[in-house]
Amino acid sequence: LKVLFVTPECAPWVKTGGLGEVSADLPKALRALGLDAQVLMPAYASVLLAAGEVMPMAELPAAHGLPAARLLRAHLPSGVPALLIDAPGLYRRDGGPYGDPSGRDHEDNAVRFGLLSHVAARLARADSPLPWQPDVLHCNDWPTALAPAYLAHGPSTEGGPVARAATVMGLHNMAFQGLFPLHLAGQLGLPDHLLHMEGVEFWGQLSFLKAGIQFADHVVTVSPTYAREILSEPLGCGLSGVLGNRREALSGILNGIDTTVWNPATDRHLKQPYDAESLARKADNKRALQQRMGLPEDPDAFVMGMISRLTDQKGVDLVIEALPELLKGRVQVVALGAGTPALETAWREATHVWPEQVAAFVGFDESLAHQIEAGADVFLMPSRFEPCGLNQMYSQRYGTPPIVHATGGLADAVLDAVSEPGQPSVSTGFKMNEPTVAELLRAVGRARDLYADAGSWRAVCLNGMARDVSWQGSAAAYADLYAELVGRRAVAC
Ligand code: ADP
Ligand code: GLC
Repeated sequence: LKVLFVTPECAPWVKTGGLGEVSADLPKALRALGLDAQVLMPAYASVLLAAGEVMPMAELPAAHGLPAARLLRAHLPSGVPALLIDAPGLYRRDGGPYGDPSGRDHEDNAVRFGLLSHVAARLARADSPLPWQPDVLHCNDWPTALAPAYLAHGPSTEGGPVARAATVMGLHNMAFQGLFPLHLAGQLGLPDHLLHMEGVEFWGQLSFLKAGIQFADHVVTVSPTYAREILSEPLGCGLSGVLGNRREALSGILNGIDTTVWNPATDRHLKQPYDAESLARKADNKRALQQRMGLPEDPDAFVMGMISRLTDQKGVDLVIEALPELLKGRVQVVALGAGTPALETAWREATHVWPEQVAAFVGFDESLAHQIEAGADVFLMPSRFEPCGLNQMYSQRYGTPPIVHATGGLADAVLDAVSEPGQPSVSTGFKMNEPTVAELLRAVGRARDLYADAGSWRAVCLNGMARDVSWQGSAAAYADLYAELVGRRAVAC
């Protein structure tokens, strides 16, 4: 089965969050199962630099208001084949995949990601310029979400529509929808008959994400709980009704993590690698973390770690608001993150108010992320909503029980025998029922009480370390979904 996985970001070439990680890991896991999965993404300047040798594959002519582009073949470090769309005027510029160096969205994002979607659709049809033709087109988030609309309303031959791949719309975050002025539809080549409520129009605007949800053969979220949550507001972000109409074609598959990269036994970023048998060595990593962050080297301090984009979604403000209470006793907080300036300032200020207890690095730092996972005693994720979340899985694997709000993938990936009586028989972390300061303090209180009992604490750490958080099961679930969709299309044709 051939799968074209379309994405605006893919680690290690370009990553702003979990989508970049998933785009690297899921295709790799699918290939391990014997599927021929390939990645399609823009040839950003940084990607061309990192990708090394590339081979020209096809010239794609300009279409509608979208520029011409070259298709290049490259390989990710994992060996996964990647197709890069080289459109220098759109993709070779400073900044990240979505915005300029100051963080402002690129002004022409509708065209930049319209082209990504358009090329994806072009390659998923029987009249593709490439000999390699996918059976399934797997789109991810709004930057790819026009592709199912292009495919469902693409050109026809006399005998009917051109044969095409089955389409899957992957939803990683409903909060980002790709809303643009409706008048851009012509430039993007969207037919007039789609510019209404049953099509791609959303409150007078053009919605990329709505297009994907409406026209994909199947819609999949990155956790089963999130698939349920977005059927109502506020988590549907205005699209719960549209999603409700597609309920039969909506499901959730929990993300996995790359257990070779996130493995405390072989992690090169760590002072002292460890596993379940040598959990005591975690203490060395705690000391190294305290040292690196300039905190007192106190083996008995209860160290809480946090790594996240600094946005409203992640509940960072709850932690900051709770600090005066949280920091009572021998407690330290180590934070890593970048994002909203007000939250960046809040962390910096906290380090000045409590220099002995709070350390924060504002920015992006992969190695520090690994060291926090290993060196902290608990990991904080009080997200208001979380489609999946990866850090709660890293932290379980690192014997660092997560404290999470029971939403989305945090609800699905963490077991808490206390907050969910009758559900799991073992605990791997601590769940908050609501994203509030009071619930956060209650969950941290429970964690600290258990921490005081070394035997019970160790049991929770080991439970987490023993969980299967790899991609294997989830990749198999995707493979089953693809097979079913391809089978259904074959019957329909
Ligand atoms: P989201 O995609 O919503 O940001 P996820 O939990 O799915 O959340 O993924 C976030 C990923 O980005 C994780 O791998 C996390 O470790 C990483 N990450 C986030 N912020 C930083 C940072 N400042 N430095 C290093 N890694 C980060
Ligand atoms: C999004 C979500 C996050 C998820 C990631 C990968 O960024 O916010 O919860 O883990 O996508 O699917």
